[in-house]
Amino acid sequence: MDEQERLIDMQDVSVRYPNGTEALKKLNLHIKKGEFLFVVGSSGSGKSTFIKTLLGELPVASGSVSVSGRRLDKMKRREIPYYRRSLGVVFQEFRLLDDRNIFENIALAQEILGVHRLRIKRNVGMMLEMVGLQGKAGAFPQELSGGEQQRAAIARAMVNRPGILLADEPTGNLDPDNSWEIMKLLEEMNRLGTTVIVVTHNNEVVDKMKKRVVVLKNGNLVSDEEQGGYIQ
Ligand SMILES: Nc1ncnc2c1ncn2[C@@H]1O[C@H](COP(=O)(O)OP(=O)(O)OP(=O)(O)O)[C@@H](O)[C@H]1O
Ligand SMILES: [Mg+2]
Repeated sequence: MDEQERLIDMQDVSVRYPNGTEALKKLNLHIKKGEFLFVVGSSGSGKSTFIKTLLGELPVASGSVSVSGRRLDKMKRREIPYYRRSLGVVFQEFRLLDDRNIFENIALAQEILGVHRLRIKRNVGMMLEMVGLQGKAGAFPQELSGGEQQRAAIARAMVNRPGILLADEPTGNLDPDNSWEIMKLLEEMNRLGTTVIVVTHNNEVVDKMKKRVVVLKNGNLVSDEEQGGYIQ
């Protein structure tokens, strides 16, 4: 693979928690710009650790991690918040701010960047429309269904137009219909150019969507398969 094509490049990456648990073991993984990747594996296999590593939340014990040409394993702690601005992230439990309405939840990410008020209004409006929540701008998270809250969380993750979207079990709290809608939305974000990495337990969705699938087991990458052929 051409060096320049590698958006995310992990070489012999090991990650350890402070208590000594080695949660990722010598992982080798290359992800190209514009890919859609599922990460699967049983509970405790290292999926969330993988996402946290890409978020810069955990120190890399050994090996190298490069994201958009930046070496995460060499990054200083104070550089991490700036690095994170290039990532969108979605979690199982939505993590919306309960004391802010949906518009404000999505706008916050832009306010932090100092985007002009009128532009924020336009961008948030566009995102709300994209996720089908035009009518819910003034609603508070508790007033929305689970599927709607997750759609709002995706709008929040995407409003700054990150190149990479990370999702850790985004459908874990949703019923099959809502799960499918969220996956379709993630696929749409991917179609618009975002590289998308989705951790999931939902085998049915993984089977249907025919994307690249990475399998983790006890912190090891045991399979990396594109529909119809192996990559590694
Ligand atoms: N904060 C922590 N401190 C120590 N060990 C941890 C910590 N978080 C996770 N682990 C351990 O690291 C390993 C990988 O955990 P991880 O959370 O990445 O699994 P997972 O694949 O996301 O599982 P699940 O499907 O249950 O979410 C497990 O052995 C787990 O016990
Ligand atoms: Mg997890």
